[in-house]
Amino acid sequence: MSTTHKAHCLILPYPVQGHINPMLQFSKRLQSKGVNITIAPTKSFLKTMQELPTSVSIEAISDGYDDGGIDQEESFLAYITRFKEVGSDTLTQLIKKLENCECPVNCIVYDPFLPWAVEIAKDFGLVSAAFFTRNCVVDNIYYHVHKGVLKLPPTQVDGQILIPGLLSTIESSDVPSFESSPQSDKLVEMLVNQFSNLEKVDWVLINSFYELEKKVIDWMAKLYPIKTIGPTIPSMYLDKRLPNDKEYGLSLFKPMAKECLNWLNHHTISSVVYVSFGSMAKLEAEQMEELAWGLKNSNKNFLWVVRSTEESKLPKNFIEELKLASENQGFVVSWCPQLQVLEHKSIGCFLTHSGWNSTLEAISLGVPMVTMPQWSDQPTNAKLVQDVWEMGVRAKQDEKGIVRREIIEESIKLVMEEEKGKVIRENAKKWKEFARNAVDEGGSSDKNIEEFVSSLMTIS
Ligand code: UDX
Repeated sequence: MSTTHKAHCLILPYPVQGHINPMLQFSKRLQSKGVNITIAPTKSFLKTMQELPTSVSIEAISDGYDDGGIDQEESFLAYITRFKEVGSDTLTQLIKKLENCECPVNCIVYDPFLPWAVEIAKDFGLVSAAFFTRNCVVDNIYYHVHKGVLKLPPTQVDGQILIPGLLSTIESSDVPSFESSPQSDKLVEMLVNQFSNLEKVDWVLINSFYELEKKVIDWMAKLYPIKTIGPTIPSMYLDKRLPNDKEYGLSLFKPMAKECLNWLNHHTISSVVYVSFGSMAKLEAEQMEELAWGLKNSNKNFLWVVRSTEESKLPKNFIEELKLASENQGFVVSWCPQLQVLEHKSIGCFLTHSGWNSTLEAISLGVPMVTMPQWSDQPTNAKLVQDVWEMGVRAKQDEKGIVRREIIEESIKLVMEEEKGKVIRENAKKWKEFARNAVDEGGSSDKNIEEFVSSLMTIS
């Protein structure tokens, strides 16, 4: 016999914006289906946020660096080691504290960058769910690195690589890439470690949707209890707004919302290129210069996010000249409300670094892409965008690793106006529908979320 009871998920994100936001959006979906939610970010991360979510309960834990004072890139190994020690303790205390509430925690949804959370879930007899913020193809690649089938960087420098479960062979330039340094080696180790104890977990949740990567999901589902639950973008940008979905998401930087939207309002339908390289990528000064002239020479209007730390790499007087030019061709901002921008009718193309959140947002809002991947999972995402989903083109680098201005100009024109790009523009509309259907009632992701929720609410 089975009975129903209330469910309470404790959500443990890895403390960077690109990881916490998908988990926050997923939490709101769980909440809309009756699950109690407590999000447990680190105290140091909370201090960096512009605004905090109001619709979910927040209980901070400690990574051992509550006053900040750590540069995660400088001492990555020290950071994750201390996070494991102090985080395990403070997470344990939090679960104990919540044991006394009306509805105690019965599940931990954790970022697999923090695999130690599984042991804590087991100690307390809780359900454990790993939440992978990237797509399944990328996870499959890291899985095969974990199994020793593939090395990162790949040893076959120019060759074709065959990875079980993928659609076809891929080039070495399409697998995730990391610079060669001890810090990067640690990052790769962490990515691979996501699989170190995955056989112990009850659920593996993937921030993607079934229609996007059927074959690899079916393949991975033979190994792990995989469920796709995406796209995890705020419901207000999909067809149906959830009642509890009031805010946009968390942001590290203050968006220049009014300025961006005012500027876009002055442009005609599908006429603007939106350009952004996410929250972390650092471009070479030479690449910034090529990009600036590529955008200018395309003669398209462009809204370009250049984070304040990147601004000094712009060509001399570039911003001043844009402001003086009468045709109002381009606008450079330090940060924008990306979803509002992507959904604006004036946007005709997204020139992106292909971070997974940006890619999933462009898919969900039907915006065709020109991709300029920089590192990490971005080359793989760019490969999928161009060759599998056919909703964009990858602007090719030269032998120095720079994408030249002519290529940027050609790629933008292909995506926005040429006959050859028509299929890309049509596919963008098609994938938007698939994305929305997936999270709509009865869609592939919605069914998976329902299944997850009802398992938490039923005791046999
Ligand atoms: C990082 C990695 O770079 C990426 O490869 C990986 O897939 C996730 O972690 P990031 O570089 O920040 O993330 O890129 P991305 O995943 O695309 O996330 C950027 C987020 O910032 C998006 O949600 C986007 O909407 C938001 N954003 C970006 C803004 O809100 N405003 C901006 O001006 C730019």
